[in-house]
Amino acid sequence: MKLWGGRFTKEENQLVHNFNASISFDQKFYKQDIEGSIAHVTQLGTVGIISSEDMKKIIEGLKSILADIESGKLEITEESEDIHSFVEANLIERIGEPGKKLHTGRSRNDQVALDMKLYTRDEVVEVDSLLKKLLEVLHRIMKENIDTYMPGFTHLQKAQPVTLAHHVGAYFEMFKRDRDRLNDIYRRMNYCPIGSGALAGTTYPLDRDLTASLLGFEGPTLNSMDSVSDRDYLIEFLSAMSTIMMHLSRFSEEIIIWNSNEYRFVELDDAYSTGSSIMPQKKNPDIAELVRGKTGRVYGALISLLTTMKGLPLAYNKDMQEDKEMTFDAIDTTKGCISLFTGMVDTMSFNKDNMESSAKNGFTNATDAADYLVGKGVPFRDAHGIVGQLVLFCIEKDIALDDMTLEEYKAISPVFEEDIYEAISLKTCVEKRMTIGAPGMEAMKKVIDINEKYLAYDKGIVQL
Ligand code: ARG
Repeated sequence: MKLWGGRFTKEENQLVHNFNASISFDQKFYKQDIEGSIAHVTQLGTVGIISSEDMKKIIEGLKSILADIESGKLEITEESEDIHSFVEANLIERIGEPGKKLHTGRSRNDQVALDMKLYTRDEVVEVDSLLKKLLEVLHRIMKENIDTYMPGFTHLQKAQPVTLAHHVGAYFEMFKRDRDRLNDIYRRMNYCPIGSGALAGTTYPLDRDLTASLLGFEGPTLNSMDSVSDRDYLIEFLSAMSTIMMHLSRFSEEIIIWNSNEYRFVELDDAYSTGSSIMPQKKNPDIAELVRGKTGRVYGALISLLTTMKGLPLAYNKDMQEDKEMTFDAIDTTKGCISLFTGMVDTMSFNKDNMESSAKNGFTNATDAADYLVGKGVPFRDAHGIVGQLVLFCIEKDIALDDMTLEEYKAISPVFEEDIYEAISLKTCVEKRMTIGAPGMEAMKKVIDINEKYLAYDKGIVQL
């Protein structure tokens, strides 16, 4: 049944119906559609726009539809154009005349704006809570590894020694910012569009404050034309998810490198790796690769919606129906990736010896050797040159700075003394970096403590 058949004299062409229909995907928010209708009707009844008997019958009917869908008794069929028509037609079938009053004072334009917002609002909370679980795992790894030394890289070349806690801590900061972004988005989007009608409000004396508060919104939106055509909150959410995926993808890339035969910094748990159909020795980091790969898909959804929206005149246009499929896919993809990534990192083991010897063998302490000379009165530029000679010497002999004899040191510069070994040990290199944000143990402990409080007091996104 069409909601709008009255004005038409011909049956709709089947291909047109198929092209136009959205029920195959908007049935995803049947629950929010019904929840929104219950709030709308409660408001109509409270204000007296419909009688309270009608209000009660409609609410009962809507609740029974919800129960029947959830129990599998009522199947959402694709003959209806969209989920809104499906629910309304079913309501009229169930309760007769009063059902025809459900759509008083609203349009599908404000209805779909509401449904999508209700659906996404729950998903923002969901993504945030998955990120919190990931942060808890990262926090544990940090606490356990404040003295696990490893090379820090720039240009993927060994640069200076850091600790595993410090490296993982960088991702902790990223995902913490991601959660902040979700919080911002939630606050900004939490205004209720229903009651805006098709575009110009309605002639009924609706109590929009009431509907908004029944649905846990801060209040009603303030411009009816904007209300039915605003999809900013989806774009913001897609952008936040793209950033989350970018962070997951960078971390995945590192795990793939760390898991390679050449590095062997980490060992992925068997449950989170896969084998090869032909090469028996293989244990592949497929999960990390898939997370990296799926990132493009989420970016795609963001660019797609930005492009859909960019030429639309006010107010509602059917183009906006295209806001759904890719957004749903992006949400499901991001949630799946965060969960799997969390499990993979939680079960991964670290080869601390390999990390430490890699830091030792890559001249990551060269800056510290130069600083040692500066401490003995050599100007930094000269010290830089002297250490350059040491490095050249070591490369020729295939040894580390720590392996040179004192005579060899002195042959290059007489300033070197026995205390050079202590000065360039990995431990010293890291521990001397003790300003907040640096890898030294005292600095790290302060940060871990701040993170601990953040995780303990944080209640996630507080829903009204
Ligand atoms: N399926 C439509 C959408 O997703 C619902 C709104 C329909 N409104 C309309 N005027 N055709 O945008």
